[in-house]
Amino acid sequence: MWNNWKPAALLGAVSSLLLTTNADHTSTIKWSNCSSTAAPRLECGSLDVPINWNEPNGSQTTIGFQRLKALNATARIGPLFFNPGGPGGIASAFITATAQGDPILGEKLNEYFDLIGPDPRGIGISTPILCDPDLWNKRVPAFPKTESEWQELVAYNEELGKSCRNLTGLLFEHVDTLSVAKDFEAVRVALGGEKLNFLGLSYGTQLGATYAELYPQNIRAMVLDGNMDHSQSETSTLVAESSTYETVLNRFAEWCTRNSTCALYERDVLQIFDDLVATATKTPISAPACKVSGACRSNVTGDDIRINAQTYLLFEEANAAFGLPGWTALGTALNDSLNGNASMLSTALATDETDRNFPGRAVSCLDWTHGTKSLSELLYKEQLGKTVSPHTQGATQTWGIQTNCIGWPAPVQYPPRYYDENIKNAPPILMVNALYDPSTSIVWANGALGQIPSATLLVRSGNGHTSYLLFGEATSAMQDYLITLERPAPNSIVNS
Ligand SMILES: *[C@@H]1O[C@H](CO)[C@@H](O)[C@H](O)[C@H]1NC(C)=O
Ligand SMILES: *[C@@H]1O[C@H](CO)[C@@H](O)[C@H](O)[C@H]1NC(C)=O
Ligand SMILES: *[C@@H]1O[C@H](CO)[C@@H](O)[C@H](O)[C@H]1NC(C)=O
Ligand SMILES: *[C@@H]1O[C@H](CO)[C@@H](O)[C@H](O)[C@H]1NC(C)=O
Ligand SMILES: *[C@@H]1O[C@H](CO)[C@@H](O)[C@H](O)[C@H]1NC(C)=O
Ligand SMILES: *[C@@H]1O[C@H](CO)[C@@H](O)[C@H](O)[C@H]1NC(C)=O
Ligand SMILES: *[C@@H]1O[C@H](CO)[C@@H](O)[C@H](O)[C@H]1NC(C)=O
Ligand SMILES: *[C@@H]1O[C@H](CO)[C@@H](O)[C@H](O)[C@H]1NC(C)=O
Repeated sequence: MWNNWKPAALLGAVSSLLLTTNADHTSTIKWSNCSSTAAPRLECGSLDVPINWNEPNGSQTTIGFQRLKALNATARIGPLFFNPGGPGGIASAFITATAQGDPILGEKLNEYFDLIGPDPRGIGISTPILCDPDLWNKRVPAFPKTESEWQELVAYNEELGKSCRNLTGLLFEHVDTLSVAKDFEAVRVALGGEKLNFLGLSYGTQLGATYAELYPQNIRAMVLDGNMDHSQSETSTLVAESSTYETVLNRFAEWCTRNSTCALYERDVLQIFDDLVATATKTPISAPACKVSGACRSNVTGDDIRINAQTYLLFEEANAAFGLPGWTALGTALNDSLNGNASMLSTALATDETDRNFPGRAVSCLDWTHGTKSLSELLYKEQLGKTVSPHTQGATQTWGIQTNCIGWPAPVQYPPRYYDENIKNAPPILMVNALYDPSTSIVWANGALGQIPSATLLVRSGNGHTSYLLFGEATSAMQDYLITLERPAPNSIVNS
């Protein structure tokens, strides 16, 4: 399986398959006014593309996107494609918000660029991935300890995946990032063929870099913020994310000792965290607010706490654009849990077939290998997670992918490997990463940097997942580069 674990130049067969870019596909955009009086400038477009790019005359799927034309026609540079990450994040929602008077990507970019939010295939206003919400909501062991728990997990994955396959159709097997990059190229061409400007956050960096290895000559500017490294083995990927989550939990605990905003001010947060996990593992802690709303599980296990706390660390301050709570909320969530109310750490439940968590699972299972074949192999991984990250114990988005995709009824389409050497033809790219990102580790940023010769990495010396939406010095550098193509010098560090 890991024969792709070598420089791309040695991968003759894979490379030529990859570089089948299917440039002959042509289709026309259908435009509408999005039927919204609240957002008069907003335009909605859709483009049909092949479900399977290797069968261009086969069944089609629809890519939906939104556009906000550049405000200053004289200063206009071209189209700027945006991706917020996930996988599963809805780009079009960011464009809608901007059109409705909440410029969540900042005011500056829309002066110069047509903002384009294409929802990757399977997501948002594109033809969606659908799954059975009742199957999704079934509680199964996230960290199996016994053979029967292992069997339960694998059977669950398979049954859930089959429900998605049934409800979605063939698209279910083709929402991998390679296909998405080809869709983006089709949209770029259909919009008139101007060079691509791209701003990708988190998973959006994997999408951007994949586009860059396929179509390097079609790029004007590309920002990759909060980086993934698609070349890593399962073990390395798990260790990098577990370690960086653990590091940021430690920084949160230290912050609580000196900032009275934290509900656990001056207390031993790591000890409290461990005790809560142990208590909830014995008897799940009640989540009364979830019992009332039905939007989340009625109680919270130790696994749930380790898994769900990561989301609270993504942004130090609450982030409205992503709807994320921030560090103060984690202090409150832990304090409340100590007092028997774990509502804030409960796992959300899906309510219908279009739940926004479904597409992310489908994309992840096609983009990353998940080769664990037995309980025994999984137990080694659990042991590894506990060793490198004693408090969070390996609970990460990566763990979710590596366990929830076992038994998934669709083959991996875009397995990890080094970027093809064609990427060396890309123009200067700007990468950005925080040193203490609880999700996309600085380890991944360094790994990706080594594969993209034209990239420079701007380091933000702080906490948090991605930097663009913080609107600090890193954001200014990204905006300046997108507009002028001037980048910060190599090894530059900013504090915000
Ligand atoms: C959108 O609205 C504008 C202004 O009313 C109109 O000129 C244009 O034809 C409409 N476009 C579509 C695709 O309906
Ligand atoms: C797709 O259809 C076009 C037009 O009918 C044809 O020229 C082309 O060879 C077909 N391509 C494939 C891969 O079947
Ligand atoms: C539009 O851009 C041009 C060229 O950069 C500039 O001279 C002009 O002041 C801008 N107009 C507005 C309204 O900002
Ligand atoms: C999927 O569809 C097949 C055939 O219609 C059916 O037998 C099966 O029960 C369905 N599976 C799920 C999980 O929905
Ligand atoms: C305490 O944390 C809050 C929330 O993150 C932050 O706004 C504030 O600046 C911090 N205060 C100090 C003294 O660090
Ligand atoms: C922590 O929980 C206790 C008990 O419910 C409560 O009295 C206290 O106000 C909470 N502290 C903060 C800062 O929220
Ligand atoms: C926790 O919730 C599950 C349903 O998700 C339920 O089966 C179980 O009995 C609950 N446990 C406790 C201790 O409330
Ligand atoms: C439990 O916590 C939630 C979330 O903070 C809150 O909305 C709810 O009122 C609390 N419920 C009880 C019974 O304390």
